[in-house]
Amino acid sequence: MALADKDRIFTNLYGFQPWNLSAARMRGDWDNTKDLIARGRDAIIQEMKDSGLRGRGGAGFPTGMKWSFMPKESKDGRPSFLVINADESEPGSCKDREIIRHDPHKLIEGALVAGFAMGARAAYIYIRGEYIREAETLFAAVAEAYDAGLLGKNAAGSGYDFDVFVHRGAGAYICGEETAMIESIEGKKGQPRLKPPFPAGAGLYGCPTTVNNVESIAVAPTILRRGASWFASFGRENNRGTKLFQISGHVDKPCVVEEEMSIPFRELIERHCGGIRGGWDNLLAVIPGGSSVPLVPAEQIMDAPMDFDGLRALGSGLGTAAVIVMDKSTDIVRAISRLSYFYKHESCGQCTPCREGTGWMWRVMERLRTGDAEVEEIDMLFNVTKQVEGHTICALGDAAAWPIQGLIRHFRPEIERRIASRADVREAAE
Ligand SMILES: Cc1cc2nc3c(=O)[nH]c(=O)nc-3n(C[C@H](O)[C@H](O)[C@H](O)COP(=O)(O)O)c2cc1C
Ligand code: SF4
Repeated sequence: MALADKDRIFTNLYGFQPWNLSAARMRGDWDNTKDLIARGRDAIIQEMKDSGLRGRGGAGFPTGMKWSFMPKESKDGRPSFLVINADESEPGSCKDREIIRHDPHKLIEGALVAGFAMGARAAYIYIRGEYIREAETLFAAVAEAYDAGLLGKNAAGSGYDFDVFVHRGAGAYICGEETAMIESIEGKKGQPRLKPPFPAGAGLYGCPTTVNNVESIAVAPTILRRGASWFASFGRENNRGTKLFQISGHVDKPCVVEEEMSIPFRELIERHCGGIRGGWDNLLAVIPGGSSVPLVPAEQIMDAPMDFDGLRALGSGLGTAAVIVMDKSTDIVRAISRLSYFYKHESCGQCTPCREGTGWMWRVMERLRTGDAEVEEIDMLFNVTKQVEGHTICALGDAAAWPIQGLIRHFRPEIERRIASRADVREAAE
């Protein structure tokens, strides 16, 4: 069953109404926020845990649990911080942008409530450099919230002092990784830190920090108002709630839509995207969670539940729920090779397997694309992806390896066909 309008959190996702504070208030935002805060830190964190919300930034870590890692009180005078990840640079991902430009007060109210729950003194919203109009809206919405007394001293009349700073990035994918983001806010080159220490112990300016995705924070006030059990009534066990899906590629109507977690792929596409271009028989493969997750071939994804566990069972992942649909007109080797180029370009260069491996993998991918390779190189490439995966400081190395693994796992005959036909051409020419 599809999500009913009454159960949508993002009621202005398409910007049919203004984003501003008075319109946001009509939609229910900032409605007695003071009362939410009066429940106290522990009660808010418990409600978030009970809701089953898992982080919407890709890894799916339980949000309430993450908040609970923050120190209850500062023993050494260090403040705590919330960092909100609005970097959204994963190819295919385009949901946080819709929240920020059409519903920014959901995010700002969420920042206050989440910041209070984890004892943070302030939130830094890190927005990707290319989101110019979105940043303008966000700056203006934060200013409105200050003017209305919703932020700053005694925020929303709660007795809690809380600031929100908006920080613009300069357009580097790696700054979406949480510790690179922290470095970047500190004014340094955005390169991931070695963990431990984890941000909850020593993050921004060496202080306890939690990094959360925009969507994870923006849904928090509604979860608290409507209750954990309401949110948990959507989706399957361990995969709860509503979710913004972003469907791009070869569907009739690409869109961003809030749906029930675990909705089957076919239903998602039929209901919101007008079907696959050229019909279901024309579907080749789907990258279900943004460019970092392995592709899933058509026959496996058709009836799959779109959630963390359902897609993991298919050797892929929900990621950010950026669903890239590819029909049979796609040159699948070229598509994955293009992603390899992206990861090569975005590697920060700190660790050798990633710095050298991403370039090496891309160059081999290009030769597989044209067929100008030996068949043995397919296995060699697969082995190299395994040597990069899990051997780097951050998950960019994994993200570069997984799409190639997915391609080889599911489309080896196509790669071999190219090599064979190229060999035929070479032989004929000799
Ligand atoms: C290379 C790389 C890029 C990332 N980019 C983003 C991003 O653009 N937005 C995001 O929310 N998380 C991104 N993440 C994940 C963050 O490190 C972090 O897990 C996330 O912001 C946590 O939020 P959540 O718990 O609310 O999901 C990225 C991770 C890596 C390794
Ligand atoms: S895995 Fe790549 S992007 Fe991440 S720290 Fe190492 S070199 Fe930088």
